Amino acid sequence: MPLTSILTPTLYERASEAVKFLQSRTKHTPLIGLVLGSGLGGFASAIQDAVVVPYNEIPHFPQSTVQGHSGKLVVGLLGETPIAVMQGRVHGYEGYSAGESTFPVRVLGLLGIKALTLTNAAGGIRHNYAQGDLVLLSDHINLTGVSPLTGPNDERLGQRFFDMTEAYSRRLRQLAHTAANENGVALQEGVYIGVPGPSFETPAEIRAFRTLGADLVGMSTVLETIAARHMGMEVLGISCVTNMAAGIQAEPLNHEEVMETGKRVEGQLAAILKTVLPEIAKLVLAGGGKA
Ligand code: HPA
Repeated sequence: MPLTSILTPTLYERASEAVKFLQSRTKHTPLIGLVLGSGLGGFASAIQDAVVVPYNEIPHFPQSTVQGHSGKLVVGLLGETPIAVMQGRVHGYEGYSAGESTFPVRVLGLLGIKALTLTNAAGGIRHNYAQGDLVLLSDHINLTGVSPLTGPNDERLGQRFFDMTEAYSRRLRQLAHTAANENGVALQEGVYIGVPGPSFETPAEIRAFRTLGADLVGMSTVLETIAARHMGMEVLGISCVTNMAAGIQAEPLNHEEVMETGKRVEGQLAAILKTVLPEIAKLVLAGGGKA
């Protein structure tokens, strides 16, 4: 065995170290996880009895460099539900490898989280979407060109080959639709295509993505979903259409617009999350979980 592989801790060991650290900071054992995307970080204030841990204090955790991603892990209670909320995430375009950018998901999985809700800002490709719409992910297309699972597989994290037929859990989607109805918030469904960024797309790329079957485009989420499914977590994905994709809207795209729209619909997203997350917790606690 080469010396480097003796001295360099494995992903499992690094993630376990982060878990130990977090367990030393909170008495809660979170059952469900939530990642808040661009402009959507405000929901974290709904967590009670919260321990707020900046990412830079957590061993091996990647640091967010994007404006609008505050970089804090909040562990506490949503009502009676123990939850871990990531306020901000890191992306491949910041220079992180697929393995590094999904490290937080590995930590959440080893902390014991059974269901992970991923939110993001996305460009709307489907013509009948509008800026500010909330869309539940029915599926995704990974066009980033990378996978967090490249390299030797660690069986302690998951199997080498695993099914992605229901990347986004059908039963969690059903709960989300019910929660949206109860709150009078419209929630559509669509296929998300994940791209490397950071440039927004060209109109020709958007036309190509539509032909491929994509309804939404964004620079996150797909790798996190792959890592979470590898570990057997159920995943729910919700996009906020912060802008219509390139070539559909008249004006050029910019990050400020993404942030502003995120802020505008944050309340609606929070209403859905407050209703659906305790229901998800009940479901996964009841067992009969689907890996
Ligand atoms: N393209 C890619 N990512 C995005 C967009 C977009 O139009 N809007 C928000 N995130």
